[in-house]
Amino acid sequence: MAEWQKSDWRNKPRIQMPEYTDEAELKAVEAKLSSYPPLVFAGEARRLKAQLGAASRGEAFLLQGGDCAESFEQFSADGIRDTFKVMLQMAMVLTYGAKVPVVKVGRMAGQFAKPRSAPTETVDGVELPSYRGDIINELAFTSESRIPDPQKMLQAYTQAAATLNLLRAFSTGGYADVHQVHAWTLGFTEGEKAETYRDMANRISDTLDFMRAAGVTSDKMHSLQTVDFYTSHESLLLEYEEALTRLDSTSGKWLAGSGHMIWIGDRTRQPDGAHVEFARGVQNPIGLKCGPTTTADDLKVLMEKLNPENEAGRLTLIARFGAGSVGEHLPRLIKAVKEEGANVLWTCDAMHGNTIKSSTGYKTRPFESVLREVREFFGVHKAEGTVPGGVHFEMTGQDVTECTGGVRAVTDEDLSSRYHTACDPRLNASQSLELAFLVAEELSVMNEARQAEAG
Ligand code: PEP
Ligand code: CO
Repeated sequence: MAEWQKSDWRNKPRIQMPEYTDEAELKAVEAKLSSYPPLVFAGEARRLKAQLGAASRGEAFLLQGGDCAESFEQFSADGIRDTFKVMLQMAMVLTYGAKVPVVKVGRMAGQFAKPRSAPTETVDGVELPSYRGDIINELAFTSESRIPDPQKMLQAYTQAAATLNLLRAFSTGGYADVHQVHAWTLGFTEGEKAETYRDMANRISDTLDFMRAAGVTSDKMHSLQTVDFYTSHESLLLEYEEALTRLDSTSGKWLAGSGHMIWIGDRTRQPDGAHVEFARGVQNPIGLKCGPTTTADDLKVLMEKLNPENEAGRLTLIARFGAGSVGEHLPRLIKAVKEEGANVLWTCDAMHGNTIKSSTGYKTRPFESVLREVREFFGVHKAEGTVPGGVHFEMTGQDVTECTGGVRAVTDEDLSSRYHTACDPRLNASQSLELAFLVAEELSVMNEARQAEAG
């Protein structure tokens, strides 16, 4: 078989990608991007792969989260800082519950291209091409805005580079210190309604106090002061992905230089399609969304294509069935994995199967459904004797009103107040942290049961 080339996807059926009108302009942008430095390095992707491998064995836990679609207009240092901050808080609470390291992966620094359920959108009788993410066209409902513009790839690259630069600085510059992260969390549990979470927060405080008394302090322990934080996005716009793909001289393998981890969406996972063809050839950790229409046969073919060497940490299966449907679909896919003896990390995207239209007309997701899907995911894995290795959320550190529910309850009527997402509704900072507490509780119950069995 001929060796894989980064442009091979061009010979496969492609869907969910724009038809650029000016071929010469597109080529010029691709050439420019190809000459730019990659955003991530192969050693980092390999380290993440090793950590995801640990998560697949229950020795770590994956927290993946961030925007549904990053936005050019809402790009700001505060936005990046706030999402980073709430992810660290969540990770700390989850670490306490899971008693294993939490691997932190942002849907950040590249999460720009969006698959859509319909190619066009009609408003008041006017039909226009759908918005496909800021890397492709614009959200404004005018025919001009919806024309795909290749120049936007350059702006996305610049924004991704600046985002990653800030994330790297936050990760090592003292901002991620455990004591500081915990102090922020105490602010949340002080609220009257969050008192149910205070007990766990106090136990974390006790642990940190004990460590401090025993001389384990951040100035001595580098690991308490810094974090590993990785980036990820859906590998959808393949012209952008190909242009940032580089041959890694250390391993002699290809690397998608656009982010540490890339995933294949639920709409573009055709085994013979362009997106699978691209992902199979790069050495990054790969995510694969699994939805209600994923068949066991397709999953088997995909596992073989995407991870022929059955490497741990290479393939993350991101289950997104919707609350109430996990029991119907997850067991048959777990069975397929078992039959193949495949190494995979199972994680739960509790967002994409739970989108509804609110009474006030907004696309939303009830907090209760998100939590319920995570619980069902854990329940099935417990019954199957397999490892529920992580969670995947659309979330932001901002105080938005896009998902309903939570202790600081957002109602259908509140949605219009701060509804800022360019695409799907995200959990706000308070909802994200609350969910982390609830998931941590599940994890700690699971741990106790496991210890009792082993005991
Ligand atoms: C997403 O993660 O934003 C997304 C579009 O998900 P899915 O492919 O699972 O629908
Ligand atoms: Co989404």
